Amino acid sequence: MNFELKSLDASGCAAEKCDALLVVVPEGFQAGSDALSGWIAQARKAGDLDSKAGKSLALYKPQGLAATRVMLCSVGEGSARQVRQAVVGGVGALRTAKRLVLCCAGPWTEATLRAAIAAVADASYVYTATKSKPEARVLATVVVAVADVREARAAFDQAVGTVAGIELAKEWGNRPGNHATPTLLANAAKTLARYPRIKCEVLGPREVAKLGMGSFMSVAQGSEEPLRFIVLRYDGAARTVAPTVLVGKGITFDTGGISIKPAGEMDEMKFDMCGAASVLGVFRALAEIKPAINVVGLIPAAENMPDGRAVKPGDVVTSMSGQTIEILNTDAEGRLVLCDALSYAERFKPRAVIDIATLTGACVVALGGVRSGLFSNDETLANALLAAGEGALDPCWRLPLDDDYADGLKTNFADVANVAGRAGGAVTAAKFLQRFAGTRPWAHLDIAGTAWKGGTAKGSTGRPVGLLLGYLLGDTATGAPPVQPTPKRKAAAKPVPAKSAPARKRRAAA
Ligand code: BES
Ligand code: MN
Ligand code: ZN
Repeated sequence: MNFELKSLDASGCAAEKCDALLVVVPEGFQAGSDALSGWIAQARKAGDLDSKAGKSLALYKPQGLAATRVMLCSVGEGSARQVRQAVVGGVGALRTAKRLVLCCAGPWTEATLRAAIAAVADASYVYTATKSKPEARVLATVVVAVADVREARAAFDQAVGTVAGIELAKEWGNRPGNHATPTLLANAAKTLARYPRIKCEVLGPREVAKLGMGSFMSVAQGSEEPLRFIVLRYDGAARTVAPTVLVGKGITFDTGGISIKPAGEMDEMKFDMCGAASVLGVFRALAEIKPAINVVGLIPAAENMPDGRAVKPGDVVTSMSGQTIEILNTDAEGRLVLCDALSYAERFKPRAVIDIATLTGACVVALGGVRSGLFSNDETLANALLAAGEGALDPCWRLPLDDDYADGLKTNFADVANVAGRAGGAVTAAKFLQRFAGTRPWAHLDIAGTAWKGGTAKGSTGRPVGLLLGYLLGDTATGAPPVQPTPKRKAAAKPVPAKSAPARKRRAAA
């Protein structure tokens, strides 16, 4: 699918030949003298197009318009969330369209333009990788109509780059375990290194043993699939600029190991590498957007299986940090692979480390599928991630890290146990990780509830690629750049050009 940016006013949109014209109509819509606003005004007046977000009206070959189908989609006050909802609905109803023109019967803001582009991609995505007769995505071209191409360019490029990242994350998240082994995941990462500025190094069992990653290795030892430790680098700034390190949990299938999971919905544990997929997605987007920053991606990838050689409850392993861990439950394997990756992260002297993991069922209970869980030892980092989540419509919610939560991780047989009781399970998992994060700014995103959807809409969401890119590009609802504290600014709905130039300068200076 290709996105094109085009300067078109309302009469330009009316004259643009396409299978479908999707018009976002805000509450305060003012009719002009063109054919398109004529139709909107008529429909409004007749009571056939309610102004509430989610209401829509379909027209077929309306007179004066070059489009075959026209969807008028109301967006209420026109928040980014309302625009997303409307566009998802509209694209869903226009399934057969190959060439779609997307326009707004009012001014786009940077946020609504980005939300609309993300929504078009989300609603038209189709999974094909393991179908014998794949029905490919019909939508081939999306023309995004704006008042002035030059003013909208930066927001458009960022949105289109982000879409590429989200789609790669969805793709790898959705692939079944036998089509997304640690080795295949590593190959996907190597493929990304074909883009300029991206490098990839893959470590296997021997190198990982040499590093002393006894915790990571213990998870992989029950599987026939060899582990992989993937190191990605995006070098967009000078070597002297400290990178942000992203660590993605890459359990390509989680049976629970010897502490085996019940059969019901176990298939969904193919999604247990969605943290890793989000890291791949971020790098795919960085390749498109080419910002002047440095980013490192670390992915400990393994399969968690029961076997004669598998790690057993009660086994004690030595992590790369030197801390010994008593594995009381082999199903709490995510933290065991992440802790060694967090130790490895230290060598990059990062400005911040962010791990992303489908870590706990407890986080699903706490926050459901709406917000990811956020934990951090650093206020500035936490606030920047919270703001980035709001700006990207990929929100998270901060949970506590009081030391009292770590009490349950005490054991008589090692420095730390890998599980505490059932209570506060998302927090105790984060407390375990915190022991390995050191003193640098660190954040943990528990995406167990947000990385995929179950039921009939079963599939990867591509989250939190949008949040992470929003953070890395310094593009948050408050306008605050990542990590560095700045005076807060009001999050006003600005017209498209308002922010992009200064944001670029800030990034270059950072
Ligand atoms: N991958 C799971 C977490 C998970 C479970 C995500 C269900 C989404 C839905 C993780 O490895 C796990 O099994 N966690 C255990 C931890 C427990 C043994 C302390 C859990 O949450 O039950
Ligand atoms: Mn598990
Ligand atoms: Zn898991």
